[in-house]
Amino acid sequence: MNQSPVPGAPSVHGEFLGHPRPLFTLFFAEGWERFSYYGMRALLTLFMTLPVASAGFGYTVEKASLIYGTYVFSVYMMSIPGGSIADNILGARMAVIVGGLFIACGHFSMAFPSEATFYLGLLLVVIGTGLLKPNISAMVGQLYAPGDTRRDAGFSIFYMGINLGSMTAPIITGFLAQHSRFKAMLASWGLNPDHSWHWGFAAAGVGMVLGLVIFILFGDGLKQVGTPPVRTAGSWQKPAVMLLGAIGLWGIVWLSDREGFTWIRYLFILTPIAVMLWFGYSKQEELRRLGAVFYFFIGAFIFWALFEQAGTSLNLFADRFTATHIFGFEVPSSWYQAANPFFVVALAPVFAFLWTRLGAKQPSSPMKFTIGLAFLASAFTLMVPAAKLAVEGRVSPLWLFGLYFLQTIGEMCLSPVGLSTFTKLSPRHLVGAMMGIWFLGAAFGNKFAGVLSTAFGEGDASHLDRFFGQQSLAVFIVAGIFLALVPWVRRRMGGVL
Ligand code: PHE
Repeated sequence: MNQSPVPGAPSVHGEFLGHPRPLFTLFFAEGWERFSYYGMRALLTLFMTLPVASAGFGYTVEKASLIYGTYVFSVYMMSIPGGSIADNILGARMAVIVGGLFIACGHFSMAFPSEATFYLGLLLVVIGTGLLKPNISAMVGQLYAPGDTRRDAGFSIFYMGINLGSMTAPIITGFLAQHSRFKAMLASWGLNPDHSWHWGFAAAGVGMVLGLVIFILFGDGLKQVGTPPVRTAGSWQKPAVMLLGAIGLWGIVWLSDREGFTWIRYLFILTPIAVMLWFGYSKQEELRRLGAVFYFFIGAFIFWALFEQAGTSLNLFADRFTATHIFGFEVPSSWYQAANPFFVVALAPVFAFLWTRLGAKQPSSPMKFTIGLAFLASAFTLMVPAAKLAVEGRVSPLWLFGLYFLQTIGEMCLSPVGLSTFTKLSPRHLVGAMMGIWFLGAAFGNKFAGVLSTAFGEGDASHLDRFFGQQSLAVFIVAGIFLALVPWVRRRMGGVL
């Protein structure tokens, strides 16, 4: 990530649709990587909780949710050492290739029906994604010289790639894993239809292979972007420290799930609040800015903690309490996972139009975060009547569609805004570290998505109105506090909107 185009120099890349050509290589490679990530994630909780009699693991929702939380936490936390390994040793391009290989092997490992290959698979995906995800995003940024006004649009196009992959994935992996037609096909080939889930996992691996092929075939077009840094004797030190830190943090997160140690979870929440206040009241202006950074960190943390329950409680709600057929067609529960990325693709142009139209009148970034949290809270409020109806029997798919629609509006107000605000608030030499903090917020949010889902229970819907209602109320309160803090944060942002 060291080599960036010389400021002001004419672009070394040819153009396509008004953007540097390699943007589209990165678009397709990351699209396929997300295909494999979300294609597998759509099945993960459902498979772990599937009864042993149907060749699942028969885990309780509590156990599966905690494993899910730790897995998704690890994936995003590993971006910090992953970024550093690319910066100091491999270069972003090589990191993407090595990462892609790990991810593909991980998903193929899960194609085998055993617990050992399952956990090995998760581990490989964690390592691979840590190497791939931060570095492919960093290369998008490097395609544009500093000050190039096309940069934000470039990131929006890239986000489209992410969501096109994420949308197609559950349809394909879910068909293979859950659809009665595919199970019948397996039976007619003389294969065990209960192993359909592993075909879904394998399909996720195929997606990553396609992404890798694209990246290897067209990667040269990136020219000097993402090439390896000049290595010195001590280049491995920083990544090694980051890796050890990540493993240490992982250990603490693992411990926080063990009996007698769950109080550690409060520290995960209280520490960033304390850090925000500490920096926010510092005497130095640059440090006060970090107070604002931690406001956004906390907002993202809380946002992802509900949002990423898409992979756990909301996935289980689809599986256990939502209609299995739409207009007479069988709909595997994992297909609902396509709703969020679908709405992103549909709403992205609307938001692009809205922000351009509002121009200088658009809400400030802390205000957008507050709006994002309020939409998320309303999405969960919508699930309260849905849960009440679920006590009587399976409910209409419209409830989940409504939830994902509202959640996605929230995502559009928060996720891209957070990313660009972090880069703008950061002192120049700290952009990489700042990206790391952004990913760490996502990592902790994802962990809590697992922790909160443990209260989903085992198949009885009578308490689910409270389950969704309490979370929604809590986030409305947080949104209120965030709103009250907007002027405090803006004073600390030093003119950055
Ligand atoms: N849908 C986004 C993605 O997969 C979610 C995300 C946001 C992940 C921020 C990490 C950090 O890229």
